[in-house]
Amino acid sequence: MSQAITEAAARAAELQQELNHHNTQYHQLDAPLISDADYDALFRELRDLELAFPELQSADSPTLRVGAQPLAGFDTVVHTRPMLSLSNVFDASELSDFDRRVRERLGVTVGEKIAYVGEPKLDGLAVSIVYRDGLMVQAATRGDGEQGEDITANVRTVKSVPLRLMGSGWPAELEVRGELFMPSAAFNAFNETAEKRGEKTFVNPRNAAAGSVRLLDSRITANRPLDIFLYAVGGSSDDSQLPVTHSDRLDLLQQWGLPISNAWSRLQGCDDCQKFYESVAASRAQLPYEIDGVVFKVDAIDAQQQLGQVARAPRWATAYKFPAEEKTTKLLAIDFQVGRTGAITPVAKLEPVFVGGVTVSNATLHNMQEVVRKDVRVGDTVWVRRAGDVIPEVVGPLLDQRPVDALKIEAPSVCPVCESALVQVPGEVVIRCSGGFVCPEQRKQALAHFASRRAMDIDGMGEQIVEQLVDRDLVRSPSDLYTLTYEQLMQLDLVAEKSAANLLDAIESSKGASLGRLIFGLGIPGVGEVNAQALASHFGSLDSLLIMRREDLMPAPRVAGMGTVSAQRLVDFLAEQPEIDDANFVTAIVEAKLRIKADTAAALLRWSGGVTAMRQMAADDICTKNTATVEGIGDVLAENVVQFFAADRHRSVVQSFINLGMGAEAAVSLLSDTDMPQPLAGQIFVLTGSLSEMTRDEAKEKLQALGAKVTGSVSAKTDVVVAGVSAGSKLSKAEKLGVTVWDEAALLEFLST
Ligand code: IVH
Repeated sequence: MSQAITEAAARAAELQQELNHHNTQYHQLDAPLISDADYDALFRELRDLELAFPELQSADSPTLRVGAQPLAGFDTVVHTRPMLSLSNVFDASELSDFDRRVRERLGVTVGEKIAYVGEPKLDGLAVSIVYRDGLMVQAATRGDGEQGEDITANVRTVKSVPLRLMGSGWPAELEVRGELFMPSAAFNAFNETAEKRGEKTFVNPRNAAAGSVRLLDSRITANRPLDIFLYAVGGSSDDSQLPVTHSDRLDLLQQWGLPISNAWSRLQGCDDCQKFYESVAASRAQLPYEIDGVVFKVDAIDAQQQLGQVARAPRWATAYKFPAEEKTTKLLAIDFQVGRTGAITPVAKLEPVFVGGVTVSNATLHNMQEVVRKDVRVGDTVWVRRAGDVIPEVVGPLLDQRPVDALKIEAPSVCPVCESALVQVPGEVVIRCSGGFVCPEQRKQALAHFASRRAMDIDGMGEQIVEQLVDRDLVRSPSDLYTLTYEQLMQLDLVAEKSAANLLDAIESSKGASLGRLIFGLGIPGVGEVNAQALASHFGSLDSLLIMRREDLMPAPRVAGMGTVSAQRLVDFLAEQPEIDDANFVTAIVEAKLRIKADTAAALLRWSGGVTAMRQMAADDICTKNTATVEGIGDVLAENVVQFFAADRHRSVVQSFINLGMGAEAAVSLLSDTDMPQPLAGQIFVLTGSLSEMTRDEAKEKLQALGAKVTGSVSAKTDVVVAGVSAGSKLSKAEKLGVTVWDEAALLEFLST
């Protein structure tokens, strides 16, 4: 027996070595030495041996490449150094700005050129791979940059990833970073076969790569034609052992058997970079993989360190992106969609067009002003692009192709959902439905917002429940939630006894939510979590908000014409001129040419009560701006808040909350300000499959915070389907209907911008 083992061990080691050698010849060096059939025979022999003696399967055995037992979930990997993203430039002048900033920071002399490396910007998925003593031990996704997912088993199946480094001299621990991708030809072939078999196809190679590597069953990944190029050293146990330039490091990585794109180049100065960009752009179509730009990196590692990073991007590198792809298609109709705060967003319905890697059939036109500015009409042929390669937008019409019967787009005169009057707040571009909670669409969205995790956090109040509650008129305003009965909930579709009971519990316990959450949940236009919390701390109770006067938020204006700058000038001036008093104040101000007019100076004197009082003031006390009494609440928000609490329909809702004993202040820290622009207003999203970086609910909230409507089923109205791992019928439906599909990486990228 023991003799058998010894022999088996010797043969297994021999086979492993031989197969690994052939792997390198084939995948890295493109110089196979034996036929596929011979390779397979050796492979099978090894596999059988390892099956009989599992202890013989070494950490770099090529049999590992067929994948392992499916995982229940991915472990988290904390990156030793954050995985950064890149800043972007879009033209020669932005590139030269980048170069100028680099030169300024490094303090190089005029005329001296910076040494850069130019590399293709691969359009795949970033990975980090760790080699310990030359053995591949871990691979991880980028995740949020700080931590990613452990995808070791999947990355092992990628044939061009060496399981053991070649040569010698590698540091005991070496982390390399690069991009996993599916080569274009392999992608096409994969889709063709999948199509024939009636299986799921992928929208673009990037989705294919991302979808394949994030499978819990690495045996499936093993059959996906993935490839990889490494583009950086992430870190090592001893960086001083490594070359001092990025380019020499790339050469060294290649010597160790790591696949490096051969399309990179050493460059001197900005002009070289521009030329390199142009040559790569010209050869883009011939490349066997997809790229979306060129990355430029300062070559000297010490210069990289000196430059450091800002936010999540290094100052020593930038991505020169190819222009967003634009295609023409027909504008079929305009839909006006109603958002949570009633904002009406025109959305162009397009003849489906494949642009920027996805099929686009809806594109936002943001607001009526945009419609007018772009002068698009129904029937027009329009240019469409994916801005930042993510949100599709209509660029403009092709005027020479305008049909005679092209229809001018008119703003609706009433709300398309509830027919309430539309209002335009002076100074705002959006038009809003004035229906508030009367408008079923606003009601649904307001209710969903109220129940959302960051507001009242009512577990189980999903989209479908909200729809039914509103459609069946069981809930007209958020306070009605608290009168719902078990019997009423049991009437709803898809609600089992247990979930009805759970939902009631969740509603009940939401009564204890802090005042800040409750105010946030009210959905006052523009009031995000941080502002809501500030209002809560300032007013302390719902009662005080009901008796709030306009002056409480907007103190009587001080002296007109005193902005931040003139207020500061005045303060400085008074500090320098101790002899100024009430008698000579106005003349002194005028003579000092502070750009403060005589009547303004006189008004200042009256308002402040005199120069002595004025000398005690800071610029902020004088300036008519910054007068908010509540941190962060400026004029516009103050107006929104005052109007909200002045409306009877809101007052009665708030009164109901008070009667229920809700809104007691509690110190709760809110995560972050969601008082941000709503770039997704009017867009309909569907989430399907499982996401790894966040739960679907979290993704939903993030999208909703940006104005999107997130629904449960895919239809022609859907703008974007976010498909996580093992997405099923919703994804197929989306693909059938030509709806835009994002994978998780696209979602993350969008959210991060
Ligand atoms: S360098 C600190 N080089 O682009 C430098 N990134 O926006 C960060 N990418 O997630 C990366 N090709 O996945 C670098 N040659 C290349 C790249 C590249 C593609 C991706 C990378 C990263 C994203 C940054």
